[in-house]
Amino acid sequence: MSPKQLFLTLLILCLLVPVIRAQNQDPDRLMVCMLADPQLIMVPETPRYVELAMNDLSELDHNFVAVLGDLAQNSSHFYKDYKEFVMEKTDKPLYSLAGNGDVGAGLDAYKEATGLPLYYSFNRRGIRFIFLSTVQFTGEFNHICHLGYEQTVWLREELKSDTLSTTIIFSHPPIFETTYHSEERDHLAAPGSMYMSESLELREMFQLYPNVKIFAHGHLHYTYGTKDDFGRGGYFVEKGLLHISVGGTANNKGSSFLFLEKDKITVRVRDHEHKRWMDDYEYNWSGPTTLTNETALDPDSVWSGINRQIHKH
Ligand SMILES: [Fe+2]
Repeated sequence: MSPKQLFLTLLILCLLVPVIRAQNQDPDRLMVCMLADPQLIMVPETPRYVELAMNDLSELDHNFVAVLGDLAQNSSHFYKDYKEFVMEKTDKPLYSLAGNGDVGAGLDAYKEATGLPLYYSFNRRGIRFIFLSTVQFTGEFNHICHLGYEQTVWLREELKSDTLSTTIIFSHPPIFETTYHSEERDHLAAPGSMYMSESLELREMFQLYPNVKIFAHGHLHYTYGTKDDFGRGGYFVEKGLLHISVGGTANNKGSSFLFLEKDKITVRVRDHEHKRWMDDYEYNWSGPTTLTNETALDPDSVWSGINRQIHKH
């Protein structure tokens, strides 16, 4: 090979590396980044923390991002910031659900900003993902989140419609008695009373469907490693269902990633500021999943949201 040919070959390789890297999605794995509570603008540092997370994310391989609520902090004008700091900073599919902060900001503004319905499901490579939104909040400190009657009925029907696919559910509030004993602390300010009003109903519902494997939530701005009096931390298993508490992006708590494979699911925690995996908080679940190797699913064909609104990327 002449020097000129060598130079040209190296040049082509250099040009191709970013393309190969961008497409470097392991056909045997489905990778989902779960960001919770970007909550623009909760504290003055929030935009910087969100920026740290999105910068780090741009260098990490993943198939899509799920934002687990509280995109905006109680005012619709913060969706402009969400678009600028989150939506425009990723080239991956970005999905979300509404939290109590979004109810405060206005759910119509949430839907307009994200282009998403409040609740919906889709399948990716044989795995079903269900997104549930908070549509109302109550409690002395406004932290009890409600799904509401219509969404609960929809969820029951959705679960009944597919009892085989490995199912991952995303929500803003938790549905188990949390790290912070929230169900016992309605009378206290945050982190008291930070749970879903329909918690018990959902926990009973999920027991009917063993294909529901994971329930991941935000809302708590959980510090990874915190344990309650019962020794429960960011992971809690109840009758085969793994509950995952995802850290708040708004105050730089890190994020959780799901790595779904045919025979296991791994949850890893990411420290965005230092761009490192926090291996102490890794969780490994072993068992068969319904993951397939298909990669060319048409997103338009897999929505079952109430208004079938399609998120364009
Ligand atoms: Fe919240």
